[in-house]
Amino acid sequence: MSPRFPDHFLFGAATSAYQIEGAADEDGRGPSIWDTFCRTPGKVTHGDTGDIACDHYHRTDADLDLIAGLGLDTYRFSVAWPRVVPGGGGAPNQKGLDFYRRLVDGLRERGITPMATLYHWDLPQPLQDAGGWAARDTVDRFTDYAQIVLDQLGRDVPLWVTMNEPFCSAMVSYLQGRHAPGLIDLGAALRASHHLLLAHGRAVQLARAVAPQAQAGIALNLSDIAAASEDVADIAAAARLDGYENRWYLDPLFGRGYPADMLAWYARSASTDFVRDGDLATIAAPADFLGVNYYETKVVAHDPAEPFHQAREIPYSGPDATAGGLDPRPAGLGRILRRVHQGYTTQPLYITENGAAYHDYATPEGQVNDTERVRYLSDHFTEAAAAVAAGIDLRGYYVWALIDNLEWADGYNRRFGIVHVDYPTQARTPKASALWYQDLVARHRAQRGAVIPPPE
Ligand code: FCB
Repeated sequence: MSPRFPDHFLFGAATSAYQIEGAADEDGRGPSIWDTFCRTPGKVTHGDTGDIACDHYHRTDADLDLIAGLGLDTYRFSVAWPRVVPGGGGAPNQKGLDFYRRLVDGLRERGITPMATLYHWDLPQPLQDAGGWAARDTVDRFTDYAQIVLDQLGRDVPLWVTMNEPFCSAMVSYLQGRHAPGLIDLGAALRASHHLLLAHGRAVQLARAVAPQAQAGIALNLSDIAAASEDVADIAAAARLDGYENRWYLDPLFGRGYPADMLAWYARSASTDFVRDGDLATIAAPADFLGVNYYETKVVAHDPAEPFHQAREIPYSGPDATAGGLDPRPAGLGRILRRVHQGYTTQPLYITENGAAYHDYATPEGQVNDTERVRYLSDHFTEAAAAVAAGIDLRGYYVWALIDNLEWADGYNRRFGIVHVDYPTQARTPKASALWYQDLVARHRAQRGAVIPPPE
C-alpha cells in the first residue's frame, strides 16, 4: 500500500546550483569557493569540477519538462550568489538574474511550485579572500545579495530557504577541512556557524519586508544520534556530537541561545565571544517553517583520540549500507521529526532533502533498476506519513536529488539522482525510483479527499 498524505502535501525533488548548472564561466558568473576547491589537488575525487556538471544552465527547459513529466508539485533549486553578484558585493549581474527569472517562469508555466535556496555553499571567492563566513562582514554582503534576489523573484517564489545546512558550511568546511574552503580551525568554524545563522535571521527579516506573502525558513541537516553503549562516557560523547551537529543550530534558532555544555566545551580551546547584542534575537525571530534534511543515523562512542569532540562514529556495516556507507534504515527520520516537533517547534516542517547514493548503472537496454533506492524512498515516505498521522505538520518532501550531479568532494562518483545522467552525452534517464515516485504522486492525486485531513 502507498503511504498516505494530506491533500495539500507537496511532493518535490531538489538540486543546487553548483552541483548541476555548469556554465561556470558564462554570462558573467564569477568564481566561487567550490571552483577553487575543485582545482586544489587531492580535495575532490578525480579532480572533478562543476564547470559542466549536468549542463542544466543550457538544458533548463528539458529539465523542467522532466520535473513536470514526473508529476511533481514542487522543485527546490538554489540561486548561485556568484552568478547574481559575481564580486560577492557590488553590482549585480543582470544575465545571472535573467537565468533565475527564466527558471522561475518555466516552473510556474508548468504548474510547479518553486522553492528557492539563497545559499547552498557557493560563496563568491572574493568574499573568501576577505575571510569567508568567519568574517562578520560576509553577513552584510549576504544581506545585500538576498535583497537583490528577493526584489527580483520574491513575488513569484512562495517558498524560500535562507541557508542550506549551516553545519556543513561551517563545520565540514572550516573544522573538518572536507569542503570548501578546506580549513581546520575551531575558532573560525564557530564564528562561521554564528554568521551563517545571523545571515539566516537577516534574510527572514528581508523576506518579510520585500515578499510578505512568501514563506521563509532554514534547512538544517539533522542527524539521529545514539550512544554505542550505556557507558556514561559513550552517552556523554553522543551528547557532544548531538550538540555539535544538531543542538548548536536548533537551540539558538528556537530562542535558547547556544547550548551551555557546548560553549563550555569549546571555550577550552577557542574564543566563543562572537555573539553581539541583538544577534540571538535576530537568529530566533520566528521563521515560517523549518526545513529538515535527513540522511544519517549515527552510533557514537567515546574516543579520546578523536579531535575536537572525542566522539567516534561507529561505521555502519549492514549489507544494505548506501554507497556512502550510511545506514539506510528509516526510523531515524521519524525520530528527528518527533524530536523537532515535541522539543522545539510546532511550526510547519518540510523535508527539504532526503535520499541515498547507490552504485547505479544503466543496462544495455538503457534502464536503471535502482531497487535499493526504491526501497529506501518507500520506507522513508512511509515514516513521513506516520509522522503526519501522529499530528506533525509536515507540508512537503523533496527527494535529493532530481538528477545525478556533482556530489561535492565525492565528485561525480556518487549518484543520488532519481534520474540518471550519462555525463558524456548528458542524456537523462528516469531510474526505477523516479517511476516509483511518479506513481506515488499519481496515486495521491487519485485518492485526494480520501486521505488524512490537513492539520488545523
Ligand atoms: C546534503 C547537501 C546536498 C547533497 C546531499 C547528498 O548535505 O545539502 O547538496 O550533497 O547532501
